[in-house]
Amino acid sequence: MPTNNPFTSPETAANYEAWYQTVGRTADRQEKALLKWLLSKFKAAHSILEIGSGTGHFTRWFGEQGLLATGLDSSRPMLEEAIRLKSPVCLQGDAALLPFRSSSIDLVALITTLEFLPDPIVALTEAIRVAREGLILGVLNAQSRLGRQYKREAGPIWEAAHFYTPNELKRVVEEIAGDKPKTVWRTTLWSCWQNALPLPWGGFIGMAVKLH
Ligand SMILES: C[S@@+](CC[C@H](N)C(=O)[O-])C[C@H]1O[C@@H](n2cnc3c(N)ncnc32)[C@H](O)[C@@H]1O
Repeated sequence: MPTNNPFTSPETAANYEAWYQTVGRTADRQEKALLKWLLSKFKAAHSILEIGSGTGHFTRWFGEQGLLATGLDSSRPMLEEAIRLKSPVCLQGDAALLPFRSSSIDLVALITTLEFLPDPIVALTEAIRVAREGLILGVLNAQSRLGRQYKREAGPIWEAAHFYTPNELKRVVEEIAGDKPKTVWRTTLWSCWQNALPLPWGGFIGMAVKLH
């Protein structure tokens, strides 16, 4: 398993989910609204694999949306939290080498995970190999107020992370899959505004990559 994953300490894992119930409650609601819109682009999808599933927060939510959801994460403490929180099956594994056959799962999601991977190109190549219909990506926006605030104030884990811009994320996907996949993206904006917009400076970027 990779050793440079910053989410391997039991303490980080034990405290992770509390963020969604407290200061992160609004962000969580906005991100899920955006993810729901992205999922609506894949009407025929039945199954989803979340890579970097962590405590299972979004894996559980994908299950609640009616998808057969599976998680995969390299951190044992994060996986133990996922089990404690009664998440769907979450496996221990590395984003760089997925233990799944090619085109075996309708959707592959990476939510706030690409930012922490030593080789995002390898991970996205693996995600595209395994996905039958497409990808759902969620990343923090480097050119947003929120992204800059995280870098400054959220501690060493976030300071070391690589945030993206919508254009950069699209470029990375196209570098791997060519310009054939159709990408759509939105960002979450002000907390008073429920709907995500196609504006490049919102805090959280949600992108759907349709492979066919
Ligand atoms: C910020 S957390 C996101 C968790 C979850 N997706 C969420 O949004 O609540 C990033 C997750 O990526 C996992 N991770 C980091 N490197 C990984 C790798 N190489 N393979 C699989 N998971 C990895 C970490 O263990 C951590 O659980």
